[in-house]
Amino acid sequence: PVKNIYKCFGCGKAGDPLQFLIDYENLNFDESLRYLAKKYHIEIEETFVDKEHFEEKQKAESLYLVNEYAKNFYSDCLFETERGRTIGLSYFKQRGFREDTIRKFGLGLAPADKDAFTKSALKDRYDAEILKKLGLTSSYNSDFFRDRAMFPIFNLTGKIIAFGGRILQKDPKAPKYINSPETEVYLKSKSLYGIFQAKKAIQQADECILVEGYTDVISLHQAGIENVVSSSGTSLTSDQIRIIRRFTPNIKIIYDGDAPGVKAALRGLDLALEEDMNLKVVLLPNAQDPDSYMRQVGISAFKEFTAKESKDFIFFKLHFLLQEAGTDPTKRSQLVKEVFASVAKIPDVGKRSFFSTELFNVLRNQGYNLSETIIQGEINKLVNKNIANKQKGDVPVLTPFDENESNQPNDNEAIKNQKTDGGHPDSSYGEEAQEKHIAEILVNFGSELFDKELQISVARYILDNIEDVVQYFDHPVYKKIVFESIELLERGVPVETNYFVNHPTNNDIRSFAANSLISDFTYADWERKGVYLETQPPAPLNFLSDARQSLYYFKYHKILKVLKNNQELYLRLSKEGDHVQALLYLKILQKLLNMKKQIAKEINITILE
Ligand code: UTP
Ligand code: MN
Repeated sequence: PVKNIYKCFGCGKAGDPLQFLIDYENLNFDESLRYLAKKYHIEIEETFVDKEHFEEKQKAESLYLVNEYAKNFYSDCLFETERGRTIGLSYFKQRGFREDTIRKFGLGLAPADKDAFTKSALKDRYDAEILKKLGLTSSYNSDFFRDRAMFPIFNLTGKIIAFGGRILQKDPKAPKYINSPETEVYLKSKSLYGIFQAKKAIQQADECILVEGYTDVISLHQAGIENVVSSSGTSLTSDQIRIIRRFTPNIKIIYDGDAPGVKAALRGLDLALEEDMNLKVVLLPNAQDPDSYMRQVGISAFKEFTAKESKDFIFFKLHFLLQEAGTDPTKRSQLVKEVFASVAKIPDVGKRSFFSTELFNVLRNQGYNLSETIIQGEINKLVNKNIANKQKGDVPVLTPFDENESNQPNDNEAIKNQKTDGGHPDSSYGEEAQEKHIAEILVNFGSELFDKELQISVARYILDNIEDVVQYFDHPVYKKIVFESIELLERGVPVETNYFVNHPTNNDIRSFAANSLISDFTYADWERKGVYLETQPPAPLNFLSDARQSLYYFKYHKILKVLKNNQELYLRLSKEGDHVQALLYLKILQKLLNMKKQIAKEINITILE
């Protein structure tokens, strides 16, 4: 709190308070701002530039509003009416749902009347068109959900986007559940039932449990297994997988214990492999679903079973298909192909090779005569085929660091995932370690005095010293820190830690700054308090010599790079016969070589010419 930053020592993420909400509460940038503003009673003035976007948002808001009204209506009907208490609540109680659970999931009861809800909504001046659009009201102005237990479906941020309504008594002629139609705010393939209530637990457990039904989610959640969502009876889509991936790469699917359903679901799961998720599968015994099985055996036995029976998807699929195939030779060769196809979908080479080896072992035990090399070869063939297909589709490639800034860090998941921590070394950037060090010194000590007599700040000293090579910074974040420092100095503003920690636009800078405050330089705090560490020189002394070393190394590497470019240019020019220009570059070349020698002397590098 004192530094107004956060840092997670578990995963290394760090940032300012907004970033904390983005990371911890999984809000996006807008939502975090609103959250904080609300908490501290600050009014946000919004200026809307994008009219279309604004209208879209307004439209969505009005849909949420009506759904919220409907949820409250159904909830009141459950808790506040005679019929609700006798029929609705007793239904939920008989299913084992506690009252706190019912409230947490916003469950309710739709009255049996023809149009009780619609009448009430119209009386309260809700728009008839919107009611129809949301599927709450039929085109004949009667209620769509009648005499059903109501399950509101929340989006990631807790807004209600749709409803599922379950029939109260068994009726073979009527569907068990009816669901809201798709709207702008409800796309079935992009929503996961329970995600709002589960997201924090998913992150904490670093695993997402996937079940088939609404009631399974609620049952497990009530039993303390809160990291659970449902794809509502359909097979998992890649959009749903991407939502889960925001919180964890690990999915555990608990299937109802009926074979036909599992077989249908198995095919869809290659999608999750493609997204590089780790997939585990548990099959429940004798046609049980998680809800019924939990109630039958109790929480601890349930947990034990799912832990013991959980299998890696690839092996689950293999064993499942083996059982189905029996001794049928065509089926046996077919299933191997199918399993190979799944392995080939895994993007990670290490994981793929792990599976080829394990598959070899299992298949040998199952009487297959396939060598490991053959298995690997077959899988690689499929991998190449997939790549070729993808290239045909011209999939866009994202570079790890996109220099375009985004005010909404959550906007682009792919980019976000790759650069959650601006401070981690990445070998693809040449002098990254040195660049990082310089950025760290600027952020941490930029405003301190380097030379007391001359009143030169650390930032001034460093920037003056690298002036000639700053444009060769490779790493976008460090480069930006350096260039902004130069700008600050030019405006006569000291280069201060706070500026970077609360950087107005760049999330990576904020994260890097917060991280560097805590990481290598913490002993500076000790020094300020007068506690000297025995083994290290006092921090300022330490960092100044560090700074010099760093600068020299940095320059040395940069000059090598410039030299190389220059050399190439010189050679090309002389080959092309442009001797005047070539001579010019030769002179520069000599100058560079001299600089290189000098720097090398400072850092004791012997140059072998
Ligand atoms: P299930 O038939 O397994 O229902 O369908 P359930 O969730 O276990 O419900 P209970 O325990 O019998 O009350 C799984 C999911 O498939 C969707 C629902 O999302 C359901 O939760 N479904 C099922 C429908 O949308 N319509 C249906 O008619 C049936
Ligand atoms: Mn069920």
